[in-house]
Amino acid sequence: MTRKFYITTPIYYVNARPHIGHAYTTLACDTIARRQRMLGAETFFLTGTDEHGQKIERAAQAAGKTPQQYADEISAEFRNLWKRMGISNDDFIRTTEDRHKKRVQELFRQLRDNGYIYKGTYTGQYCVSDELYVDGAAPGDPCPTCGRITETVQEENYFFKLSAFQDKLLELYKNPEFIRPEARRNEVIAFVRSGLRDQSISRSTFSWGIPVPDDPKHVIYVWFDALANYITAIGYGSKHAGAQEAFKKFWPADVQMIGKEIVRFHCVYWPAFLMAAGLAMPKTFVAHGWLLFEESKMSKSRGNIVRTETILDVLGADALRYFLLREVVFGQDGSFSFDALVQRYNSDLANGIGNLASRTLTMINRYFKGEVPYPSGAASRTPGDDAIATTARKTISEFGTFFDQFQFSRALETAWGLVAAVDKYIVENEPWALGEKQDEESRARLATVLYTSAEALRIATALAHPVIPEATAKIWTQMGLGDIQTVDLNTLTWGQLQLGTRLGEIAPVFPRADKSAIERMQSMEEQQRDAGVVEAKPEAAAPPANVAPVVQATATPVEAAKISIDDFSKIELRVGIVKVAERVPKADKLLRLEIDIGTEVRQVLAGIAEAYAPETLLGRKVVIVANLAPRKLRGMESNGMIVAASLEGGKPVLAGFLEDVPVGARLK
Ligand code: MSP
Repeated sequence: MTRKFYITTPIYYVNARPHIGHAYTTLACDTIARRQRMLGAETFFLTGTDEHGQKIERAAQAAGKTPQQYADEISAEFRNLWKRMGISNDDFIRTTEDRHKKRVQELFRQLRDNGYIYKGTYTGQYCVSDELYVDGAAPGDPCPTCGRITETVQEENYFFKLSAFQDKLLELYKNPEFIRPEARRNEVIAFVRSGLRDQSISRSTFSWGIPVPDDPKHVIYVWFDALANYITAIGYGSKHAGAQEAFKKFWPADVQMIGKEIVRFHCVYWPAFLMAAGLAMPKTFVAHGWLLFEESKMSKSRGNIVRTETILDVLGADALRYFLLREVVFGQDGSFSFDALVQRYNSDLANGIGNLASRTLTMINRYFKGEVPYPSGAASRTPGDDAIATTARKTISEFGTFFDQFQFSRALETAWGLVAAVDKYIVENEPWALGEKQDEESRARLATVLYTSAEALRIATALAHPVIPEATAKIWTQMGLGDIQTVDLNTLTWGQLQLGTRLGEIAPVFPRADKSAIERMQSMEEQQRDAGVVEAKPEAAAPPANVAPVVQATATPVEAAKISIDDFSKIELRVGIVKVAERVPKADKLLRLEIDIGTEVRQVLAGIAEAYAPETLLGRKVVIVANLAPRKLRGMESNGMIVAASLEGGKPVLAGFLEDVPVGARLK
């Protein structure tokens, strides 16, 4: 019987646009799914979007949209991006779909029938950003996960008897494969050992969620709703025979991939919900680290995100896939920079596998009329030829071991070790010199050298296919081998390349990138930021262009450094009056303002066009940071910054005064 393999990504919040942090989780899963298919497993790869909850409701409100409209738009962006990146998911679940909602209610009912859900009152602190109840926190306390100030809630809620599962969970964690890596497993064990309290699993103070069955005043807690996607998508709770069969076939999941900040939800709550429903446990949770940009976690709230599209436009999806899996030690945090990306691209892709393919195949074309030559017999083989065969055999097995342990970086290092060995072998054997000679011995040597190189290239290409699918598919066709997706990795061995295989048309797969690639990517990102296209979350949000979030909408991060009064006095805040306001062509979010600050009239470019029509600003008094260094945006100089509160979804609200204030007055 065919082995099945079920792999999931977390489902992405739709409160902001996708960035390379999300792409990282998804492409790691995609790579695993692709390898499993090549190993013959009947693979089901699931991803999707997490669309309910207070966070989404507020973000939609701030954007002036209904939550459904808002979710529809951002969810579509995720789907389109995955398509562009060649992600091979078999389904994409949205938590606002009917199939999901009905099945979540079914799961809730099941847990209630099994006696694990009861009604009670919750009084305590809630973090909206993480959609998390914070046990033991007092009003005004920060969330231990993100540092934002929690909100006090008092509600009649449904509770889940999490406390009943402490011992059973600890029993599960005895299996070292259940949570990887080890460090995450230890954290979870320590958390569960410290004691578990029952969890509130409904909310009644807002309505954007799935109604509790038979009690629609309450909506189901968004994490219960979201976690359930892993079973609802494959048919749990459905009455259709086909769906039931799919569920039976694919559940439990083989790999559930998660980021390190959502380990507790997945490794404590989720297994407890499953046990309460009498369902089997996933085999493995794998937690990866964060992608850092300029030393801090890339996130919508910090405004330091890198859009995937920029990299796809300049270097293509394979470059990003290879870079992230090769450069970041899986499980740990890793830094992203355009410099490092281009450097890796050139050294490993353009000069590495790309160059090996083009030089080997070009020489087969030139010296053997495009047909793979056969190596000569053992008598004329050199130890160098045999060493390549040995390295290739070892690479096949080591690559598999590392990869299946989620050590992508080491697996790729091994495969590229083979590429480097063949490069060296080619240089040492000088096939171009052999090609100039016509004697039989030289021809035989040339055939052996080119066969050996091509066979090693074939093996490296097959192994790398799950990671760089587009380029390897091209190399495969150039080698005249047909469809790479039909390769069976179980039987991949040295010596399968057939004599006389006719090469296809040869073209470079990874053209070299120069310095301008870095500049192009950097300026594309800058333009997006200037145009305010990169959205920010409310808390600690990055301001849209030239709007300073002096007042934060809901909270201040606890780790924010304190400044002295002297530091503050360096900032010259002044009252100004808007004299001219107009839109900036081709920049949806930007307005050009002329602001009189008493001593002069300043031109300021501000990313507020989506929140304010220009005509409504004329004559309005605003606060401006008057001593900010001038900055060029869209070719125009901006001389100052308007102060605004930055709300959910990045929508700014301008600071103003209740009493009349003279133009030019300083704020201190
Ligand atoms: N909606 C929840 C998950 C519910 S699953 C039942 C959620 N969504 S998220 O959009 O915030 O994050 C989804 C995934 O993207 C997580 O695995 C998270 O770690 C990953 N990443 C988001 N930003 C990231 C980085 N900067 N770096 C690496 N991964 C990051 O949590």
